[in-house]
Amino acid sequence: MTNRTFTLTDQDGKSSEFDVLEGTHGPGCIAISDLYAKTGCFTYDPGFGATGSCKSAISFINGEEGILLHRGYPIDQLAEKSSYLEICYLLLNGELPTKPEFAEFDNTIKQHTMVHENIRDFINGFRYDAHPMAMLVGTVGALSSFYHDSIDISNPEHREISAHRLIAKLPTIASYCYKHHRGLPFMYPDNSLGYVENFMQMMFAVPAQDYVQSPTAARALEVMMILHADHEQNASTSTVRLAGSSGANPFASIAAGIASLWGPAHGGANEAVINMLDSIYNSGETIETTIARAKDKNDPFRLMGFGHRVYKNFDPRAKIIAGLCHDLLDELGGDQPMFDLALELEQATLADDYFRERRLYPNVDFYSGIILRALNIPMNMFTVMFAMARTVGWISHWLEMHHDPEFRIGRPRQIYTGHAKRDYPS
Ligand code: CMC
Repeated sequence: MTNRTFTLTDQDGKSSEFDVLEGTHGPGCIAISDLYAKTGCFTYDPGFGATGSCKSAISFINGEEGILLHRGYPIDQLAEKSSYLEICYLLLNGELPTKPEFAEFDNTIKQHTMVHENIRDFINGFRYDAHPMAMLVGTVGALSSFYHDSIDISNPEHREISAHRLIAKLPTIASYCYKHHRGLPFMYPDNSLGYVENFMQMMFAVPAQDYVQSPTAARALEVMMILHADHEQNASTSTVRLAGSSGANPFASIAAGIASLWGPAHGGANEAVINMLDSIYNSGETIETTIARAKDKNDPFRLMGFGHRVYKNFDPRAKIIAGLCHDLLDELGGDQPMFDLALELEQATLADDYFRERRLYPNVDFYSGIILRALNIPMNMFTVMFAMARTVGWISHWLEMHHDPEFRIGRPRQIYTGHAKRDYPS
């Protein structure tokens, strides 16, 4: 894996050599585990912008060229040709399934779609006005108390059953969070339906009448879920790995990931984008004043849905979603003025030096809220949808970590800037 080295020389002329590790794609990484032993120093990299935390074979991003691969397959091909459940198999197992393998996987997931009846009581214990993400993070954490028959992390079968349970139960739990919030009766899963259709019926059906599925809406949601399924070592995935590195059980580790996703700089951005567009649309704020606020260093406001730590030319997921918006709004109706406003805002930023110089382009969340709105998903459920789709990515990374012979507890260092040692006053 390595044929390059990197030499560091300090001010006294003492040189230390480090291996450069090469992956399949992407820049090399200087292996610095023995940096302290060789130099007496640590590295300092707030935000981990230049730090590789693990080796991973799951996803690859090239931010300069706008490339995203899952297990080697480009995201645009997967979005066009695959299904969400097939992507789940691919991310978990490394290869696309054969037909019999897929049938078996589909059946396995279906065996786990129901949740323990007491989980309904657990969710009913939340205040009626609790944010669905608050309910989700709490309920997924609580799964370890309901399914402690599968939390021995040293047992590969336990790890696999937990992964299947999480993928199967997330849509059920997500829909229950919504139903509780609305005061509507919970709907049981229907295993005669596909993964996405089942979620739609648990979300929108009521016992009093039949629910008519829309294939267009189901496919739009499926593509959204494919686009959100994994994204290598982002904040929430790194959180899952870090939480899991102590040996924490998978349900607790995924709950940690959900908590991290909730923030507006990460998965919470889709909700923040709609709030921002709403305020331009309804409160008379103009595109010009919104952009001016985003550029003003004295104003903490940022243009939500813009910018990405890795993508510096375009986010390939945003491109696919923007196309999906066109098709969906044509077919289903939906908030066309909101979409037009989003396009206008995008054009205005493309013409603006501040955004061009900093290479800030729309990310996946800029358009995803518009699609979710067209699908009648309420705004406070947007990040829950992201969490539901990303669960497979998180658990795939958690599983990969447990197979990694180099895996050990995550424990970053610091630069201590507090008081020098001093004595307690006598
Ligand atoms: N609006 C205005 N200015 C921005 C924005 C923005 N959305 N994003 C970055 N900047 C500026 C920032 O102020 C800084 O300017 P300067 O160099 O003058 O100080 C420069 O661009 C670099 O920003 P940064 O904070 O160092 O970039 P980062 O890589 O740490 O942050 C980000 C990436 C996504 C957190 C950030 O771009 C952001 O806050 N965007 C808005 C929130 C958002 O849309 N998040 C969704 C991300 S994609 C989905 C996901 O992964 O969950």
